[in-house]
Amino acid sequence: MTVFPLPPGSTIGILGGGQLGRMLAMAAARLGFDTAILTPEADSPAARVAARVIVADYADPAALRTLAGISQVITFEFENVPAAAAAELQRLGAEVAPATRALAVSQDRLEEKSFLNAAGIGTVGFAAVDSEADLLAAFQRLGPSLLLKTRRGGYDGKGQSWVRRSDDPAAALASLGNLPCIAEAPADFRREMAVIAARGRDGEIALYPLTESHHENGILRRTSAPAKGSPRLFAEAEKIATTLLIALEYVGVLGVELFEDDDGRLLVNEFAPRVHNTGHWTLDGCEVDQFEQHIRAVSGWPLGPTAAIHHVEMTNLLGEEAGAWEKLAREPETRVWLYGKRQALAGRKMGHVNRLSRLDGA
Ligand SMILES: Nc1ncnc2c1ncn2[C@@H]1O[C@H](COP(=O)(O)OP(=O)(O)O)[C@@H](O)[C@H]1O
Ligand SMILES: [Mg+2]
Repeated sequence: MTVFPLPPGSTIGILGGGQLGRMLAMAAARLGFDTAILTPEADSPAARVAARVIVADYADPAALRTLAGISQVITFEFENVPAAAAAELQRLGAEVAPATRALAVSQDRLEEKSFLNAAGIGTVGFAAVDSEADLLAAFQRLGPSLLLKTRRGGYDGKGQSWVRRSDDPAAALASLGNLPCIAEAPADFRREMAVIAARGRDGEIALYPLTESHHENGILRRTSAPAKGSPRLFAEAEKIATTLLIALEYVGVLGVELFEDDDGRLLVNEFAPRVHNTGHWTLDGCEVDQFEQHIRAVSGWPLGPTAAIHHVEMTNLLGEEAGAWEKLAREPETRVWLYGKRQALAGRKMGHVNRLSRLDGA
């Protein structure tokens, strides 16, 4: 049985081998932990900075047994890990954080929005769509233009498309593979925002400042942090994040994507039960970044300070943009983070830069 707080020298298992796993492993190493990565991908970004790597399918029983055997706690960097894999780890007696409930809820956009509304948190209007009749009913109830999304598996704007009432409903459903879908009313937002929230094993809560997100083609392009806003806006973001952490009995770092409407009210777009791209600014903008915070939380350590010490403009380096590393490295105000991905495919997140400036009022 794992006893918390975990002492340095313990091993933290991570499901997923992407850049989030890499930055988690780097943060864990700084606190004296080893990490063990389970990923189906050979030569992954996280694997190259971890003590142990298991290359196998997430559902591979032998791989899960090995990971459970060597890890004192197991976490995720990727929320589309099969729920069965997480359940199997728990059956094997592993400590899994965040709990698998958060994973299950966030994997299904319909369950996610229903859960949010049940917790008293606002979202855009939505409807389940499994057939043409459902889609027509959704137009009746929600309006003439809807964003149709697959319930599961979408990321970075993939698995979604706008549909108008005048479009052919069969073609719309077919364009998303005839998978179970959710139709959403358009969010008439002034800004997209995000908050990175953390909860420790003892229920302690720490929230990073609210940030502003800029997406292009469904992919995060830029985060500006901390965001400007009224005290009422900050209080609302805090209430949403706190409510969600408690409703999920959450342990770890949670990313919450928000829409700010023209009246300055916040709706939740979605949440991710993991460290999040909108929190990369904390690597250079805060004393304790989101990755260390997550490692602290799942290890039962006290949470660290979350106040901003710099203003940060975080820009993702997509595809070939990471090729500018030499020029970027010459900019004195710019911190360069590269993920070690071998192939710069178009639109792929290859790294990011944090450009620091003085905090307003500092
Ligand atoms: N209901 C909506 N109305 C308007 N824009 C939306 C809506 N839902 C999503 N978007 C836009 O698409 C982006 C990606 O959608 P999201 O649901 O966050 O999926 P993903 O999992 O791909 O991030 C959002 O950041 C936002 O810019
Ligand atoms: Mg999103």
